Order: sequence, then structure tokens, then C-alpha cells
Amino acid sequence: MSSPQRTRIPLPASGIDLRVSIGSIHLKNPIIAASGTFGYGIEFAEIVDLNRLGGIVVKGLSAQPMAGAPPPRMIETPRGMINAIGLQNIGVRAFVAEKLPQLRKFDTAIIANVFGHTTEEYLEVIRVLEDTDGVAAYELNISCPNVERGGAEFGTNPALAAELVSAARKASKGPLWVKLSPTVGFIGVMAKIAETEGADAVVIANTYPSLCLDAHTKKSRLGSTTGGLSGAGIKPITVRLVHEAGRVIKLPIIGLGGIESPSDVAEYMVAGASAVQVGTAHFVDPRASERLVGGLEEWCRDENLIEINGIRGSLKA
Ligand SMILES: Cc1cc2nc3c(=O)[nH]c(=O)nc-3n(C[C@H](O)[C@H](O)[C@H](O)COP(=O)(O)O)c2cc1C
Repeated sequence: MSSPQRTRIPLPASGIDLRVSIGSIHLKNPIIAASGTFGYGIEFAEIVDLNRLGGIVVKGLSAQPMAGAPPPRMIETPRGMINAIGLQNIGVRAFVAEKLPQLRKFDTAIIANVFGHTTEEYLEVIRVLEDTDGVAAYELNISCPNVERGGAEFGTNPALAAELVSAARKASKGPLWVKLSPTVGFIGVMAKIAETEGADAVVIANTYPSLCLDAHTKKSRLGSTTGGLSGAGIKPITVRLVHEAGRVIKLPIIGLGGIESPSDVAEYMVAGASAVQVGTAHFVDPRASERLVGGLEEWCRDENLIEINGIRGSLKA
């Protein structure tokens, strides 16, 4: 694993410094496309200038290809959506052979979202990626059931989370981000586990388990009954999680959930995030992330800020 994001990025001509660092990774701006909402990145290359983005997290990768959940897979809710895609993906080997060579041509950080249903499955994905170039970091999606432990979710069980992050740390030379589940009693506990077990950053957070049903048919509106809620409606809850985690850990935090506007980005950063990801907004406008980069520059100008980093963790008591 190696990637150009290890070298310092020059100051942009605009004079507004949007550069941020997540540990050893340098991003030209804090806007990253979120996993599962931006394909493998290259599908968007004709309509989005991928070089403008701070980074792209690709669709979750498993050791073997997965067909995903039965339809319907997505439903709109007031101020958001619920998805039950079932982690459909082409598998890590096809990603490396077919997608990564094209992605490498772009000047943006490529982050591989990794998942499995056993610790060994996660490690297999990492091992395949370790043998290739062009991935700047791994993002472990720990909101998955562990089939060897009766389906208990890695992300809500401290012992399982610790075991997984520790094993992933040993398996990977590159930066390791851990994407936390929001449905835990106190997010600080899971964030601390990630820090203790050697993660380089935490990503807060994944979707909120939800059920959207039709009272007349008495059936779920989704093929696989429950799904994950995302979009603007979750933003205030997740901003609180970022704030609470930031009081417990020293690791960089990447915040996401419901970001649509430059001031949403700023809210997450004021709460303590070093960077953000943009997900559901891509379903309204595929260019949402790119638009936010320009919008954030404007926002900084309006706020008389010359560097975005200055607002990180600036929440007033
Ligand atoms: C259709 C869809 C697919 C997703 N797939 C993944 C995935 O493969 N891996 C993952 O870690 N998160 C996945 N997510 C979660 C998003 O990356 C993000 O954490 C969540 O949607 C909250 O951000 P948002 O409100 O900006 O969408 C998915 C979300 C959506 C809407």
C-alpha cells in the first residue's frame, strides 16, 4: 500500500487554505465522498471533477463478491432515506483488477471501505489491498454482524470491536480508520477502543437502524425489512456523537451524517471533526461533494477565515 497523499500539498491559488491532515495523510480539502453513495468513484468521473475532492471512500469491499439484498433497497423519508443495499459489491479482487487502475489516475485520496462477517474475512480484504498501490487508507466498517459469534455486531460489542481493530492493525501497514456504529450507549467507549487498538482515525458514523412500513399492507417498504437511516434528519444526532467522542480521544475524527451545505461541514468541524464525508446528498445531486468544496471556500471568505483548520473543535461552552 502506498499513495501520494503522504506528501504535503501546496497552498491553493485561491488563498483560502482548505488543506487538512488525518494523521499522516494530507488532503487538499476536508470533503470526502462517503462509502456506498459514490460507487467506486470512477462512475462519477464524467460529471464530477474527482481531482477537486479531498478523498473518495469506495463502496464497501468484501473478500468475495456479494449480490446484496432483495429490492426495494431504498426509500425516501422526511429529510432523509433508508437503505438496505445489503453491502452489494464486486469483491476486493475485482476492485483491484478493474477499478483501482482507473482510480489511481486521479489526484485525490482513495480510501478502501472494508467489511466482513468474520475477523478473517476483514483481514483477507486488507491482505489483498496491502499488495497493491493507490489506496491511501483503510476504513473498517464495523457495523456488521459477526457470524461466528451468534451475529453480535462488531461495532456495538466492545470485545469484538477490540479484537477486530487489533487484528486489522497488525495486518495493515497503512493508515487505519474505524467507522463507528452510532447505536452504542456512549460513543466514547467505542472511539477509545479504536484508539487503544491502534487506529489512526475514527469515522462517526454509519447509518441508524430503522424500519419504514406500510400500515395498510403491514409490510416493510424495504425488501429486507429493516435498513439504515441517513440524510439531513440524522445530522444533529451525529454532530453530538462527534462532540462526545472528541472529548475522550486524541485521534482525528471524520464526521458524517446529513451534510448538504458548507455550514453543515463547518458544524461538524466546530464539534471536533478534522474532515467530513458526504453521502445521501449525492442522491439529490451527484456533484454535491464537488459543489461543497467551492461552497466551503465561499463560506470561509464570508467568515473572514483564511484556513478551515482554525475552526476545528472551537465549540463554545
Ligand atoms: C445507499 C447507501 C449505501 C451505503 N453503503 C455503505 C457501505 O458500503 N459501507 C459503509 O461503511 N457505509 C455505507 N453507507 C453509509 C454512508 O457511508 C454514511 O455513513 C451514511 O449514509 C451517513 O451519511 P449521510 O447522511 O451523509 O448519507 C451507505 C449509505 C447509503 C445511503
